[in-house]
Amino acid sequence: MYKITSLNDQGLGVCFVDNKITFVYNTLIGDVIDLEIIKSTSKYNLAKVTKYIKRSNNYCDSKCPHFDKCGGCNFLNMSYEDTLIFKKNKLERILKKFANIETNIDIVSSDNRYNYRNKITLQVNNKKIGYYSYNTNEIVEINNCLLAKESINEIIPILKDFNVNNGKIIIRTNYINEILINIISDNDIKLIGDIPKNIKGIIANDKVIHGESYLIDTIGNYNFKISYDSFFQVNNYVANIIFELINKNILKDENILDLYCGVGTLGISTNTNNKLYGIEIVKNAIDNSIYNAKLNHINNYDYKCGKVEYNLNKYTKENIGVVIVDPPRKGLDKKALDSIITINPKQIIYVSCDPITLARDLNTLKDRYNIKYIKALDMFPNTYHVETFVSLERK
Ligand SMILES: C[S@@+](CC[C@H](N)C(=O)[O-])C[C@H]1O[C@@H](n2cnc3c(N)ncnc32)[C@H](O)[C@@H]1O
Repeated sequence: MYKITSLNDQGLGVCFVDNKITFVYNTLIGDVIDLEIIKSTSKYNLAKVTKYIKRSNNYCDSKCPHFDKCGGCNFLNMSYEDTLIFKKNKLERILKKFANIETNIDIVSSDNRYNYRNKITLQVNNKKIGYYSYNTNEIVEINNCLLAKESINEIIPILKDFNVNNGKIIIRTNYINEILINIISDNDIKLIGDIPKNIKGIIANDKVIHGESYLIDTIGNYNFKISYDSFFQVNNYVANIIFELINKNILKDENILDLYCGVGTLGISTNTNNKLYGIEIVKNAIDNSIYNAKLNHINNYDYKCGKVEYNLNKYTKENIGVVIVDPPRKGLDKKALDSIITINPKQIIYVSCDPITLARDLNTLKDRYNIKYIKALDMFPNTYHVETFVSLERK
């Protein structure tokens, strides 16, 4: 019999088995359980519950029938308030541990705890369609995902008609419930039967097999064209709060460099009349950025397709006042970080989806930059992930 005493940063319960730290799936602080160890390393065990002897006082019933097995969510059996406290504490602890930054951080909640995602990625294995189970590569077949917008859920039952053998199906939706389906599969995909009218496009292995290869979506008052392979923020409501934070905090009348710019969202949201530069690795996303700048009445832009870390040299001469960075989870490449320091902007706005790499990068920047403003955002409700907005100004 073991008692869960805390949660680790991935939301797994922590207990000790023969003095070895043990992480347990599907548990909350206060749960008393029997467990089975499913993996053991020299440093830790990974375990699953065989019996709940007493459930935590914080336990709530999950609204999803797949929650016990599915690896898509972590926190469906916690109150929303408790999930926000977990995220706030996690971020504060990591910033203290890896950057020695001690600060009290507010977290902004999502407008919806459920049905907030405008995109989901389903795995396909031997024609089974769903998410990976939390502890194996087995597929948990689903016909509805509590995190996805309703228009996405309406499409899930017809996906089997595409006869995908193995691969992935990425479904996106927009503000008018249009659907874009991107199939990556090890077999040829042929369309049969009637395609629902709201399916704006189907792409299979990078070929358009029906309709268009993009959607137009909105964040706040801005419109964005998004190609099937471009990144786009998954939670439109929280993305708009990031836009508001940028506008509240950004230094005015400065040239802006938007790094890892995707389809141009963050830079475009500044509505700048100064020069707006952007760099992004995905070609279609850069084409989208150019289109989106015009669509949103930005005239003075210059987008470059390539890796941030190899393309920053020329910007040292461009009088950049503000650098916006929104990197993938691995954070800023060392080379990129060194080049940003050489560019020496007055302000760096860092939007992060991973507190550990954020803390690592802030630790490098903190000798030259002060944190002027920091806020956590619940971009991904019911998961252990937390988004962070940081405005840094040169000392
Ligand atoms: C977290 S997304 C942010 C996108 C955008 N700022 C937004 O708000 O939608 C990170 C982006 O970085 C791009 N990316 C990843 N590695 C990159 C690299 N080394 N150089 C340039 N872009 C990269 C990805 O394609 C993705 O569009």
